[in-house]
Amino acid sequence: MDLYQPEYVNINGEKFRVYLTHEEIQQRIRQLGDQLSHEFKDKKPIFIGVLNGAYIFLADLMRYVTIPCEVDFLKLSSYGDEKVSSGQVKQLKEIDANLKGRHVILVEDIVDTGLSMKYLVDKVGELKPASLSVITMLHKSDATKYNVQIDYVGFKIPDLFVLGYGLDYAQEGRNLAQIYILQEKEEN
Ligand code: IMP
Repeated sequence: MDLYQPEYVNINGEKFRVYLTHEEIQQRIRQLGDQLSHEFKDKKPIFIGVLNGAYIFLADLMRYVTIPCEVDFLKLSSYGDEKVSSGQVKQLKEIDANLKGRHVILVEDIVDTGLSMKYLVDKVGELKPASLSVITMLHKSDATKYNVQIDYVGFKIPDLFVLGYGLDYAQEGRNLAQIYILQEKEEN
């Protein structure tokens, strides 16, 4: 079977079209993996994936990293079933690993308002890592209101709802191999 990558998808009665292809995504992640392998050489970084959305990005990213590294996860509450942020962050799963003295790389699927990332950077910073870096696959820079640290960005995107490649709309669409954007809104 091929990867699931139709040109259009309908989810919850809304139509989405391909915005970033599987090849474009993989090519960019390969570059990021090379960069991290170089910059974290001899540092044995630990990647902390933010569930649920970052799991596919993190799985691909780590396979382009060619230095010793580890992984752990935490979970934050999502948008619920809406397309706009609730404005509140809740942590639903703690990090198990001891991050004291470690080179930590926080891995997000998308930074939108920046609220979640600000919360995470503050919280993980208290665990006394040797260094703390942030990588996000997507950044809606026009929507970012909080002053957040972002060290590595896969793609800067417009302030429109996207899904696929780990990102959901009301929990659907994570299994799409490409990134899709809401069609109607973009054409207005
Ligand atoms: P922020 O706290 O406003 O930066 O939002 C971050 C979280 O909101 C991400 O980790 C996603 O789970 C979710 N999110 C933001 N924008 C989108 C989107 O366009 N599609 C799907 N989820 C999104």
